[in-house]
Amino acid sequence: MDHSGLLKGKKGVIFGALNETSLAWSIAKAAYREGARFVLSNAPVAKRLGTLENLAETVESTVIWADATKSSDLESLFNQIKDYYGQIDFIVHAIGMGVNVRKRRPYEKLNYDWYAKTLDISAVSLHRIVQHAMDGDSMKNGGSILTISYIGAQRSFSHYSEMGDAKALLESIVRTWGARLGERGIRINAISQSPTRTTAGQGISGFDAMFEFGDKMSPLGNADADSCGDYAVTLLSDLTRMVTMQTLYHDGGFSSIGIANAMVEPMMEMLNNEQQKSDQS
Ligand code: NAI
Repeated sequence: MDHSGLLKGKKGVIFGALNETSLAWSIAKAAYREGARFVLSNAPVAKRLGTLENLAETVESTVIWADATKSSDLESLFNQIKDYYGQIDFIVHAIGMGVNVRKRRPYEKLNYDWYAKTLDISAVSLHRIVQHAMDGDSMKNGGSILTISYIGAQRSFSHYSEMGDAKALLESIVRTWGARLGERGIRINAISQSPTRTTAGQGISGFDAMFEFGDKMSPLGNADADSCGDYAVTLLSDLTRMVTMQTLYHDGGFSSIGIANAMVEPMMEMLNNEQQKSDQS
């Protein structure tokens, strides 16, 4: 896609790029293309798990390692960002991990310490980041904050398990903070993204089934990571300055579909086969 300079002059911080499959990576590439400059951040453990430093070079960025569940790390991060840029225009939060999900603990047998960690990493971290940004007076009036959610916040997807709870909390934090940030013209929204083949996505058992189901049910098919990056640009730009507290579906139409032909036809075939078998017996 050609650049249009929508984010020219804007400065920010993008959390959660681990490797080139990450949604945050696609958002960073798109924001850079549109003229934004930003700091990239991830948990210190991602130093050895990912390739963030390579990305940083390609988008002329600096990496500041910070665990988004630790207040001391975030305080130091926002102080450093202030030294680089002064106040910033945007924050992207693309952080998530389901600890029970990763360790294949079913929802009926949750380990509650892991569950608390899942909520802390995947949802409370957004609150913490915004609180530190506000405490440090790090954001300009009129800025934009963005996080990434999934429709499992509203509907039950069997294998999404505890992450559905985490996303419901995340979307509530978006609304509750949004009501308070409005007086400064700062907006906060969540993109509810299609299943996407990333490290976090593929950590969910049954991910391939969720991916294929989403792709078949969505009139436009699953939205990929690069289109998520493009959509994110619109939400970081001034064109969406009156949009706040929303969960915005970036899912190829999945959220408005009941059942699509791509699912009806194989079901009809299966039912016909079953009928023929029972007629023959
Ligand atoms: P990813 O694995 O590339 O990104 C998740 C990031 O969270 C990683 O960079 C990881 O290092 C970071 N992280 C984990 N614990 C952290 C901590 N304590 N402090 C700072 N960072 C930490 O996967 P993806 O898919 O790009 O995930 C980004 C967001 O998108 C997540 O919130 C995820 O739930 C959400 N999402 C993903 C979908 C998918 O199918 N991949 C669909 C809908 C939403």
